[in-house]
Amino acid sequence: MELVNSITHLKLTHFFIIFIFLSLNLSSEVEAEATEVLYKGFKATPNPQISNIQRILSDPSGNYSLCFVRVENDQLSLAIVHVQSFESIWVANLTRLAKWADPTELFFNGSLVLMDSKSGVFWSTYTNGDRVWLSNNSNLQVQKVENGDTSPFVLWQSFNFPSNTLVENQNFTSAMSLVSSNGLYSMRLGLDFFGLYVNDEPGQNRGRMYWRHKALEAKADVIEGKGPIYAVLRSNGYFGMYQNESVPVDVESFNSFQQPVSGVRRIRVEPDGNLKGYFWDGINWILDYQLIKETCELPSPCGAYGLCRPGKGCSCLDNNTEYSSDGCIHPPENQNSRDFCGAHDMYKRLSRNGVELPNKELMDYKKMNTFQECQSACEANCTCWGVVYTNTSGFCYLLNYYPMQSLVGVSDESKMGFFKIREAIGEDKMEVRRSNQAREIRH
Ligand SMILES: *[C@@H]1O[C@H](CO)[C@@H](O)[C@H](O)[C@H]1NC(C)=O
Ligand SMILES: *[C@@H]1O[C@H](CO)[C@@H](O)[C@H](O)[C@H]1NC(C)=O
Ligand SMILES: *[C@@H]1O[C@H](CO)[C@@H](O)[C@H](O)[C@H]1NC(C)=O
Ligand SMILES: *[C@@H]1O[C@H](CO)[C@@H](O)[C@H](O)[C@H]1NC(C)=O
Ligand SMILES: *[C@@H]1O[C@H](CO)[C@@H](O)[C@H](O)[C@H]1NC(C)=O
Ligand SMILES: *[C@@H]1O[C@H](CO)[C@@H](O)[C@H](O)[C@H]1NC(C)=O
Ligand SMILES: *[C@@H]1O[C@H](CO)[C@@H](O)[C@H](O)[C@H]1NC(C)=O
Ligand SMILES: *[C@@H]1O[C@H](CO)[C@@H](O)[C@H](O)[C@H]1NC(C)=O
Ligand SMILES: *[C@@H]1O[C@H](CO)[C@@H](O)[C@H](O)[C@H]1NC(C)=O
Repeated sequence: MELVNSITHLKLTHFFIIFIFLSLNLSSEVEAEATEVLYKGFKATPNPQISNIQRILSDPSGNYSLCFVRVENDQLSLAIVHVQSFESIWVANLTRLAKWADPTELFFNGSLVLMDSKSGVFWSTYTNGDRVWLSNNSNLQVQKVENGDTSPFVLWQSFNFPSNTLVENQNFTSAMSLVSSNGLYSMRLGLDFFGLYVNDEPGQNRGRMYWRHKALEAKADVIEGKGPIYAVLRSNGYFGMYQNESVPVDVESFNSFQQPVSGVRRIRVEPDGNLKGYFWDGINWILDYQLIKETCELPSPCGAYGLCRPGKGCSCLDNNTEYSSDGCIHPPENQNSRDFCGAHDMYKRLSRNGVELPNKELMDYKKMNTFQECQSACEANCTCWGVVYTNTSGFCYLLNYYPMQSLVGVSDESKMGFFKIREAIGEDKMEVRRSNQAREIRH
């Protein structure tokens, strides 16, 4: 009897604890979902108890939230998150990350502003609106509401400032770019194509293009003077480029094209430089499209001075170097200089047969009679990092201003490369000795 009693008691206590736990959980959920509109006077500060994501504003479906996202333990970024997967769909372009602590705050005073009283403003919409709202397809808007107006005027929307992702029916115009989360790669529209670029390479004012997808113009032509093209990811599974009407000038179909899928779709520039499309099946994001199909065609699948062989993975251009996860150059590039034009710049030379540039059709070349001539042109120019020569065509591809990225390994041994490898500056004496050597090499 005693035993039975105590077991019942135990069960009841358990039940009670679970009940309290559930209702606590529920109340916080309800609270989180209740915030669907922010009005003037709204203010939020990061909660020190929360370790990953703090929801601030939810869309009517509860699928998306504007959140504080914890970065590297004690820093904060502002993002729109797909709640079920914790995937960031949009990230505010802060001047720099804020602290996950006092005095960081997000408030709405007509502008949605993230700031702290010491460092100033990290980010602002610079508007004079009445309310902030998140649409059920993840578009954050600052709206002006006229008296009794049912269709509010949009002063600012996150759809105009995409990060690395586009969602269904979001307009991507030639004024925008998608930038990979690591900042290395971007996608932009040209006159009749979309291109993928390596960011921040001087001497190339828009970055170096490594992939170009020209509009097929099967259903409509791109007409000069008819205005710039724009691109939209459509709900029935294709990424279309348009000029100023509803008939696309190009259609990139996803695997699930014209098949009804359960959830939303998105397309994203990935940290490896690919462009991938996904749909949400309720549990996972399913990969549905991939622009660059061959790994070796990516801008740098094996890192600087790496060699990518289709189906065989990575090795190093220098076959005395073992390929490892930190790449082929040890120590890695430790100087900011983009060239070998400084007095103390020196390099080792490396030659290798059976190599080719990925996407060489996008690269500039000069015609030369021999590999030696091609190599000499590079040795004579301190902005040159290397050359790749094709014996049959006589094309000499000169690579300027940036270290060699991965090349593609081919069986044709008449395709040859010559590369400069920066030598690390050692102790002072060493430096003098070596720079003398370098001068010898150059003269
Ligand atoms: C973020 O802002 C900086 C400077 O304000 C700008 O140069 C950069 O292009 C922006 N990045 C994106 C992805 O819009
Ligand atoms: C909102 O606050 C910011 C930061 O203090 C300020 O610069 C801005 O003028 C304010 N905007 C309005 C509309 O009051
Ligand atoms: C999303 O919102 C729009 C209007 O803003 C509405 O027409 C549509 O039905 C909503 N979608 C879902 C799935 O609730
Ligand atoms: C996208 O652009 C088209 C054409 O410019 C326009 O008709 C449409 O309203 C835009 N859609 C959104 C969501 O801004
Ligand atoms: C759309 O194209 C027509 C010509 O076909 C042009 O007259 C019109 O100005 C264009 N509209 C926009 C918004 O570019
Ligand atoms: C929210 O997500 C669920 C589950 O994926 C989906 O069925 C629903 O259509 C989504 N709602 C909106 C408005 O996208
Ligand atoms: C390294 O490559 C060179 C030519 O590219 C070749 O002659 C040599 O045998 C290779 N060494 C090894 C260890 O594979
Ligand atoms: C070196 O190459 C760059 C890029 O092709 C070119 O602009 C420059 O004129 C060259 N310098 C010399 C000395 O040939
Ligand atoms: C390159 O081409 C020349 C003549 O076109 C030929 O003599 C030479 O053998 C070729 N070299 C290689 C490595 O194929």
